[in-house]
Amino acid sequence: MTLLSIEHLSVRFGGLAAVDDVGFEVRQGEILGLIGPNGSGKTTALNLLSGFIAPHAGTVRLSGQDITGMPPAQLVRRGVLRMFQMTRVFGRMSAFDNLLTAGMARGLAEAEAGRRATALVEELTLGPVQYLDASQLSGGQRKLLEFGMCFIEPPALAMLDEPFAAVHPVMREVMVRFIRSRHAAGATFLLVSHDMPIVVDLCQRAVCMNAGKVIAAGDIHTVLKDHQVIEAYLGESHAGDEPASLEVPS
Ligand SMILES: Nc1ncnc2c1ncn2[C@@H]1O[C@H](COP(=O)(O)OP(=O)(O)OP(=O)(O)O)[C@@H](O)[C@H]1O
Ligand SMILES: [Mg+2]
Repeated sequence: MTLLSIEHLSVRFGGLAAVDDVGFEVRQGEILGLIGPNGSGKTTALNLLSGFIAPHAGTVRLSGQDITGMPPAQLVRRGVLRMFQMTRVFGRMSAFDNLLTAGMARGLAEAEAGRRATALVEELTLGPVQYLDASQLSGGQRKLLEFGMCFIEPPALAMLDEPFAAVHPVMREVMVRFIRSRHAAGATFLLVSHDMPIVVDLCQRAVCMNAGKVIAAGDIHTVLKDHQVIEAYLGESHAGDEPASLEVPS
């Protein structure tokens, strides 16, 4: 079943078509990978899908309902949330209070938000730092906190923008476990990441963008073997000695 369907989505910045006639679908309950080289339009696509910028053309439907151009607050109410490439938390509030505030902002009573925050602190291994100001947390801990804020009320669709980038491997493992557990509980993900081993591990399907366009979509293994995808990552000069796949042999 299709949760999110995207058709002909486009936005320009001056003369640059950052997202150019993009179409794909996110299926209910899947973890869909959104990959592509730097500057290919992945973050811009998430900005469009989460209402942070409005498209110049195209349609976005959530469970069949047109949500094109809907602002973030309305999308959050429908369960569409995104995490940022640059983490956004309240720096001068404790990690625990960030979770509490996120829960109450999503309509939970304080006691319930507190219960969930306590459980999330535990699951995300933030116990030792929960009463520190969020600004004192490491980059990885802030990402974990953002996971908690996103999931304090389970979203229908979570869009993650490079959650693993520059994160300590131990915390990366916590994130992967967290994504798996929420996926098992029914959450749907759109995951932007350059970390191919994790993408292969977590995603059954992927969409690859290059220069604002979708150049391949489908089964993850097929996408990573796609000639255009390999060329987009490695550049045309390598066309003669390309690997057969971007997948790292294990
Ligand atoms: N607000 C903006 N104004 C002008 N140009 C922008 C803006 N946001 C993004 N761009 C440009 O749009 C293109 C796509 O950028 P985007 O950040 O979406 O790429 P990305 O795939 O997320 O890259 P990365 O993997 O490096 O995060 C780039 O050329 C970028 O410079
Ligand atoms: Mg980006």
